[in-house]
Amino acid sequence: MSLGRAAVVGCGSAVPQGRLTNADLERRGVGSTDEWIVERTGIRERRVAGPGDTTAALATAAGAGAIKEAGLTPDDIGFLVLATTTPDQVLPSTSTAVQEMLGVRCGAIDVSAACAGFVYALGMAASVVESGRSDNVLVIGAETLTRIVDPLDRGTAILFGDGAGAVVMARAEDGGGLLSWDTGCDGSLTSLLEVPAGEAYMRMDGSEVFRKAVRVVVESGAAALASAGVAAADIALFVPHQANVRIISAACDRLGIPFERAFVNIDRYGNTSAASVPLALHEAVECGRVADGDLVLLSGFGAGMAWASAVLRWGR
Ligand code: UT7
Repeated sequence: MSLGRAAVVGCGSAVPQGRLTNADLERRGVGSTDEWIVERTGIRERRVAGPGDTTAALATAAGAGAIKEAGLTPDDIGFLVLATTTPDQVLPSTSTAVQEMLGVRCGAIDVSAACAGFVYALGMAASVVESGRSDNVLVIGAETLTRIVDPLDRGTAILFGDGAGAVVMARAEDGGGLLSWDTGCDGSLTSLLEVPAGEAYMRMDGSEVFRKAVRVVVESGAAALASAGVAAADIALFVPHQANVRIISAACDRLGIPFERAFVNIDRYGNTSAASVPLALHEAVECGRVADGDLVLLSGFGAGMAWASAVLRWGR
């Protein structure tokens, strides 16, 4: 028996204090310029984790904010899912450290689907709520990507930053909630973006990832819209993974969503992988970009390649 849809009832986010501007990268000798980076990516600066800013610490701060905004306490959380590509340790899962730091008393797991991780985790969390197994599920995306980026590789060092975002999902009351969820992956493309086993830093074929990313955002976004039974023109807020403003713009064009409806904060944070969608969603909410009843499209994509899209009707 279905108990009704799961809705986002609170959002939170956290970023480290440290800032790395394009001018800082120029001075570092990365072989790029502020002008090139802004024009080709839309990024002006990113946040960089300091020694105490672990993935778990950023996740905890974002999670605490989401629980508070939902009007709940840690005791109310019945399940915790943390999407991350940059766990603090191989073992145990980073979510266990977050459980302890947040003081929630429930099961906790990590989900690894790179930049699509948060949207994957959101759909999984919704299923837990909708099945009646848990009333309130905390979903976090958190990353310390600057720890796996070669500081002198201009193909990646200009792009990635650190941060976290979180939502609480709970039973929808007034027809709001997750309307559809589309996921996919193509494991023949693993070599396009990877940290090879035994190596410290990521390697990326940027232009190939770019081309494939536009295609999968459009195909998966269109599938999620169709499955929700809504038109692109009805989407009030599009929150895409913040990988490159040109990917966002191309996806908007092809999906038929006016660019002004896409939320973009890549200029201040760069690409924060699994953290980027919830970090952008929280800012969009704080800026008043979404009202109850609005249709929201979320889109994550990246290494794997793996991708996921979700359509929500905002509000409970
Ligand atoms: O999180 C999900 C996964 N990641 C992504 O979605 C990233 C997707 N890819 C991208 O955002 C872009 O491909 C990059 C920003 C990484 C690169 O931009 P691009 O427009 O695809 O550049 P390109 O690799 O096609 O290179 C164009 C030119 C080349 O010079 P020539 O051969 O035309 O003389 C490159 O050598 O730009 C040069 N170039 C750079 N110049 C200055 C490449 N990277 C840089 C750089 N600074 N950082």
